[in-house]
Amino acid sequence: MTQPASWIAGSGHALHGDVIVPGDKSISHRAIMLGAIAEGETRIEGFLEGEDTRATAAIFRQLGVRIDAPSEGVRIVHGVGLHGLRGSNAPLDCGNAGTAMRLLTGLLAGQAFDSTLVGDVSLSQRPMRRVIDPLTAMGARIESSDGRAPLHIRGGQRLKGARIDLTVASAQLKSAVLLAGLYAHGETRVSEPHPTRDYTERMLTAFGVACEFAPGVAGIHGGAALQGTDVQVPADLSSAAFFLVAATLVPGSELLLRQVGMNPRRTGLLHVLRLMGADIAEEAASMQGGEPVCDLRVRHAPLHGIEVPVEHVPDMIDEFPILFVAAAAAMGVTTISGAAELRVKESDRIAVMAKGLVALGVRVDENPDGAVIHGGPIGGGHVDSVGDHRCAMSFAVAGLLAEGPVRVADCANVATSFPGFFEIANGCGFALAT
Ligand code: S3P
Repeated sequence: MTQPASWIAGSGHALHGDVIVPGDKSISHRAIMLGAIAEGETRIEGFLEGEDTRATAAIFRQLGVRIDAPSEGVRIVHGVGLHGLRGSNAPLDCGNAGTAMRLLTGLLAGQAFDSTLVGDVSLSQRPMRRVIDPLTAMGARIESSDGRAPLHIRGGQRLKGARIDLTVASAQLKSAVLLAGLYAHGETRVSEPHPTRDYTERMLTAFGVACEFAPGVAGIHGGAALQGTDVQVPADLSSAAFFLVAATLVPGSELLLRQVGMNPRRTGLLHVLRLMGADIAEEAASMQGGEPVCDLRVRHAPLHGIEVPVEHVPDMIDEFPILFVAAAAAMGVTTISGAAELRVKESDRIAVMAKGLVALGVRVDENPDGAVIHGGPIGGGHVDSVGDHRCAMSFAVAGLLAEGPVRVADCANVATSFPGFFEIANGCGFALAT
């Protein structure tokens, strides 16, 4: 399903229905990567058919891994083992996907062959020194263009296990170190300033690797073989987030979001929305492939502004664009701080969301690490998502609440994380047109 390049988001009516959002992006990337270097077959169900995760699959095919796609959302990865990847002379294109580039940098640092990682315009501007430096401390040789992609990763290095204390709370960096650690001599231990999503650690365990982990720390011994396994990917809470906020804010709404991944390092938005007054119930909770999942039932409730507790920031790092919209529609003032990382995501999300909401008549005072958002009426107008998928979908929600139509430019990248957003949104009561 292709996404139109720009949208007109009209005000919809009450939202109703059961919604199944696509599979989790973080888990889908990792399932391909670990399946590729495992022994034997890995069957992935609920795989995100997004551009980012397809880019990862295409890269592993280029590295000699057979990956079958027998039906939508299913992948069968024929693992080649820890040392079975084959080098490619052509660059490996990560597209828009920061997760692909950073995790692959770690995984490729330990190979016998050289690799070059490239990305699109947005990814080529994102900081990569944060991944190069810890890997270099493990013995990797990586050349960049002043800390940015393209990244040239020299093969044939003897990586050594190390103690890496990350200074940025980032699951991508932690994962890159752990993947390099699989190829390192001895033990690698990584700590982070605040616990982040632990999908790599959980999935390594599911693939039979003794990965020790607790919130904020993880350790691995080099050389452990991975055993292919089945991976059931839950629905992505970051994609569900747009519907949680939309149904909360449109009077008369009630939506049921099915089988959403509830990893505790991802649920910051739920805590924050509840602090603001949201009515979100968790139903049918279960464990699915080592990950907690549940159905989320969301009913309309008016929101009030809050000071967002900084301890929730890393647990909702991808949900700030939609939180900006929730704050704009809330009564009173919402203050976001401690979120400077938002400036180096697919776009500078503080600047893009502030600029867009200001264009719709909302008062937003920007700060280096956040913003103060003054709730009030949202007007119609023109906004630009600058090719950032999450900003585009957030502005679609703003349109639902606005007093006039909101025209959102540069939306095609929604397909990186949420193919079918346009259709699913309109199916439950949005009024998106092209
Ligand atoms: C991700 C980690 C986060 C998140 C990204 C996915 C992952 O990035 O923003 O969408 O899958 O590990 P950082 O590690 O840069 O915070």
